[in-house]
This record gives sequence, C-alpha cells and structure tokens, in this order.
Amino acid sequence: MADYVVEFGKDGRPVEPDGRLDAPAFHRNHQAIWSVLQTFLESKSGDVVEAGSGTGQHVVEFAGRTPDITWWPSDLNAQHLKSIDAWRARAGLPNIRPPLRIDLADPAWCAQMHDGSGPGKLLAVFCANVIHIAPWRVAEGLFEGAGRYLRADGRLFLYGPFKRGGKHTAVSNAVFDTSLRERDAEWGVRDVEALEQLAGKAGLVLIEIAEMPANNLVLVFARSKSA
Ligand SMILES: C[S@@+](CC[C@H](N)C(=O)[O-])C[C@H]1O[C@@H](n2cnc3c(N)ncnc32)[C@H](O)[C@@H]1O
Repeated sequence: MADYVVEFGKDGRPVEPDGRLDAPAFHRNHQAIWSVLQTFLESKSGDVVEAGSGTGQHVVEFAGRTPDITWWPSDLNAQHLKSIDAWRARAGLPNIRPPLRIDLADPAWCAQMHDGSGPGKLLAVFCANVIHIAPWRVAEGLFEGAGRYLRADGRLFLYGPFKRGGKHTAVSNAVFDTSLRERDAEWGVRDVEALEQLAGKAGLVLIEIAEMPANNLVLVFARSKSA
C-alpha cells in the first residue's frame, strides 16, 4: 500500500535533537522523482517552491544537484517547518532558503509571495504526496497559486498516487484510497482528469505523465498557450 504519514515525528520514528525528521519513502522514491525533474531543471536557473515539503529531505537532495536554482521549501506544520530548517542548516547549501509557512488552502499561499521578500516568478513548483492527504481545496489552492506565480516557461510537478479516468491504476492504490477516506472523508486519491480541470482554470495544461515505482505518477503541468 502507498505511504501514509500525516505528520512525521508522530509515526514512531526517531526525531533528531535538532528536529530533523526522516521519511522512509524519501529514500525509496527521490531518485525516480529526480529523473523527471532533472530533464527540466538541469542547466536552468531561477526560483523553485516545494509545496508541503514535510521533512525537508527532497529540497536538500535536489538543491545539492542544482546550484543555479534557489529552492524555497514550505509547509504548514510547525514540526515539519522545524525539520526542514534543521536539514537546511545541516546541508549548509547556499541555495536553500528558510522554509515558508504556506497553507495551500489559501490560493495566495503566503505574504512573502507578493511582498518582495520571497521568491520571484517561479521556474517550478514541486509538490509530492500532499493533495490526497488534504481536502480538495488544497489541490485548488495549489493550482491557483501555481497559475499565479509560475513564470511563462515554468512547470508544476505533482508526485503521488492518482486515479486515471476515474479508476484506480492498482489494487494497492484503491486500498490506500479507502484508508485515507476512512481517516478523513475529505481526503482521497485524486483523479488526473479532475486535476486537469483545475489546471485549465489556472491557465495550466498537463504536458506529461511519468510512471513512477509503486504505482505513483509525476504529473507535469505547463502554462497553456492561450493563457
Ligand atoms: C505525506 S506528507 C508529504 C511530505 C513530503 N512532500 C514528502 O513527500 O515526503 C504531506 C505534507 O503536506 C503538508 N500539508 C498538509 N496540508 C497542507 C496545506 N494545507 N498546506 C501546505 N502543506 C500541507 C503536511 O504538513 C505534510 O508535510
């Protein structure tokens, strides 16, 4: 079954004295995710926001491979923000900014996105394993913000389990979906076509679906030509 951690640090795994949390799924999945991000990010420069960074391990891993990109991790959860900052401090990389407190349910994301203290127009938004463990309005806010803040050639990368044509792509995803909905009726594995509709409203279009291990996908969205 797909991974299911709502709050790292409360999953029985050790918390480092500086607040660093560890997500087992990160170790299994980051290389496959990077293989998709890499084709777009390598040899580019600009600002990238990670939405719902969780422990902060993805940002540290990817920032180490992209010295010309400035990474802006973010989350809503206080313990996760602390973990992200602790991973950032430990990595000592100059291209990772302190985490932003972004609640994706708010389409404006956070004040720093428009008061000049945050990133400029974004090269990319990366969001992994968030929109199925959150109400639908979080997906709406993610797309609205991406539509507002991505630059003309920018991309939104969305990683996780998804339904296609209203159907699960694997039994394990169906079981996972049931467990999510039992935990919270507003959660659940999202449909690619429903996300394409949200994208359309935000001036974005789905340009690539990359298959990932364990029945996950990376969906890649770009600005639609008409937007
Ligand atoms: C399953 S974790 C995934 C973390 C990380 N992206 C990863 O793949 O390891 C889901 C993350 O989404 C965050 N999250 C949940 N609701 C959110 C919201 N409304 N806005 C921003 N982040 C949210 C949680 O705090 C958590 O860090």
